Amino acid sequence: MRIALLGGTGDIGEGLALRWAFHTNHEVVVGSRDPERARTKAEEYETELSSRGVDAKVNGFANEMAADRARVVVVAVPAYHVSDTIETVADKLDEGDVLVSPATGMKRDDEGFHYHRPNAGSVTQLAVDAAPAGVDVVGAFHNLAAGRLADLDAELGIDTLLVGDDRDAKETVRLLAEDIDGLRALDAGSVANAPEVEALTPLLVNVGRNNEGMHDLGVRFR
Ligand SMILES: NC(=O)c1ccc[n+]([C@@H]2O[C@H](COP(=O)([O-])OP(=O)(O)OC[C@H]3O[C@@H](n4cnc5c(N)ncnc54)[C@H](OP(=O)(O)O)[C@@H]3O)[C@@H](O)[C@H]2O)c1
Repeated sequence: MRIALLGGTGDIGEGLALRWAFHTNHEVVVGSRDPERARTKAEEYETELSSRGVDAKVNGFANEMAADRARVVVVAVPAYHVSDTIETVADKLDEGDVLVSPATGMKRDDEGFHYHRPNAGSVTQLAVDAAPAGVDVVGAFHNLAAGRLADLDAELGIDTLLVGDDRDAKETVRLLAEDIDGLRALDAGSVANAPEVEALTPLLVNVGRNNEGMHDLGVRFR
């Protein structure tokens, strides 16, 4: 399947792009507001993969063109720009395409990171509100550490939680997630449950910051 990563030039985009290109035959397309930056990052990812003996083609395009070419579109941009990013690509999305939202709103103060819940209820709900008719949204990958994904030597052995209101869209994302070695996808329910999933991310960051050797934490449910 062809997967577009809007803002795929950033941290979580890099981690997901490398993992999908490394472990699977899915075609990864890197999107950016700046097509030149997308091409440069796509070449960097290819170089990293080729140093590990994987001859994968990774293309880079403007976000709009990346979205136009893919069936699954990951909105890998900061939480406050999820809605406007979806709006810029909305007319490139076709009915049946799936948007994936990994974004979490966080505030930082002297004590650490805190979940910043948007008025809509969650960032995933913001994505639902911005998505055109016929395009379903699945929240996923919120609790993965980008650094751990991008380190292809690191074994994952972790879970990602999925929230979504459409069973087929959630199943599509579950299969894509589980194609990554060491990643298990668990159903956390509907989009109404997204705040609980998103709020785990600042918890993981705070535990990582306060305990030596615990950076890039993930969650395994047992
Ligand atoms: N980092 C993690 O470990 C991690 C893990 C799980 C989930 N997440 C979530 O994933 C999302 C992205 O995180 P990240 O760490 O990858 O962020 P990031 O590296 O700071 O940004 C990702 C990309 O977003 C694009 N971007 C920046 N400002 C933008 C704007 N004003 N409008 C549209 N696009 C903009 C940039 O791409 P261009 O400049 O190329 O357009 C940038 O490369 C966040 O919402 C975060 O909560 C992050």
